[in-house]
Amino acid sequence: MDRILIRGGHPLHGDIQISGAKNAALPLMVACLLTDEPLHLSNIPHLVDTAQMATLLAQLGVDISMTGSGEEEAAAGRMITLSVRDIRRTTAPYDIVRKMRASFLVTGPLLARCGKARVSLPGGCAIGARPVDLHLHAFEALGAQITLEDGYVLAEAPRGLKGGRIAFPFVSVGATENALMAAVLADGETVIENAAREPEIGDLIKCLMAMGAHIEGAGTSILRVQGRDRLHGATHAVLPDRIETGTYAMAPAVAGGRLTLRRTDPQLIGALIPVLEAVGVSVELGDGEVTVSSDGHPLRAVDIQTEPYPGFPTDLQAQLMALLATAQGKSHIRETIFENRFMHVPELIRMGADVTVDGDKAVITGVKRLKGAPVMATDLRASMCLVLAGLGAEGETVVNRVYHLDRGFERIEEKLGQCGAEIVRVRGDVAR
Ligand code: EPZ
Repeated sequence: MDRILIRGGHPLHGDIQISGAKNAALPLMVACLLTDEPLHLSNIPHLVDTAQMATLLAQLGVDISMTGSGEEEAAAGRMITLSVRDIRRTTAPYDIVRKMRASFLVTGPLLARCGKARVSLPGGCAIGARPVDLHLHAFEALGAQITLEDGYVLAEAPRGLKGGRIAFPFVSVGATENALMAAVLADGETVIENAAREPEIGDLIKCLMAMGAHIEGAGTSILRVQGRDRLHGATHAVLPDRIETGTYAMAPAVAGGRLTLRRTDPQLIGALIPVLEAVGVSVELGDGEVTVSSDGHPLRAVDIQTEPYPGFPTDLQAQLMALLATAQGKSHIRETIFENRFMHVPELIRMGADVTVDGDKAVITGVKRLKGAPVMATDLRASMCLVLAGLGAEGETVVNRVYHLDRGFERIEEKLGQCGAEIVRVRGDVAR
């Protein structure tokens, strides 16, 4: 199993190119199931999760071709073409869905195009129980019959889906995406209330509209979809990754220095910018870029709570804690999206952080400096918290279980290394 070795204490100076967003790329790839014509997607990040999605789609009958495997093109993001004239299978097996919950997103398109889908229930995961009841509720509102058998969801609509009203009791990104992808081919109008407003939903809507879908209300919590008989092929560029942008924007606060993040959109990290300014780093916004610099003064404590977009994202909570671990005073974090998203805390404590957790709340009392240690985490963003902590810590940090990082951060050692971080990957061959 690969490990990442970091020797902390090197200020970061330079530019980082932000990749396409993982959490936009995954539903966009799935959207190819809605048409028998090719879907061309550019700025696809090269990650374990996008490769995993490609494997699942290939099993369903999708032909996938890729351009941009050279180094230069890799930096600019890959272009993939997905085409599925005929869907060969309508089953998404346990083995793939358990590894990547986003696989459940194939349910809506399969149901809409083929009238049936058999998809493994994802089950819980490290960050929480994460049920799919809202997804199933959406399919039922469009007339599908849902049965659970042998750990699989069987969704059926032999005479096709009918538009309907879907009122979500709370915001779910995945359920909104699944509902949208089912509704675009349903008969008549669907209204989705309390829809998620994450930029990745906006990106999906943009692509679906380029494929001929009719959707009103992008960026709001009420989406109105007029179903179409068929969609056609399209070309779409995946939006920049706001979590990668936000993560690297925090790095100068932790390690010192000045970083410019390019090929991104500062608006995507609108909730993080005031937090960065409040802790005491300077943020300059440009056209498609953000520059963050630290003057070396001690950081100040802040209080935040995670919320659906446009609130502070849960996917940046762990990374922010790495920063607050050395901020002067007491910071408070409340995690409102997932019930078990403080798994990085015991590892940060091993590096010398002073953090106490009580239910969904964490209190972080800043210490002067963290100390490097061997650490590991059980999810992607928690692993990145440990990388950030290592960049600022004294001595060597070894982040184990790097495959979590490879699910969502492209070439981190290269991106941080070229800005002055002492960070290397040590290859290991022990099975996961
Ligand atoms: C998406 O997960 C992201 N994943 C997550 O990113 C992100 O943390 C999350 O949205 C919140 O922003 C992808 O986009 C692939 P939800 P998703 O449905 O769609 C509960 C990362 O690190 N819920 O918005 O699965 C759920 O348990 C990841 O990249 C139900 O109860 O999240 C959670 O508490 C991790 N029933 C809350 O809603 C349902 O049917 C929000 O989850 C669905 C969700």
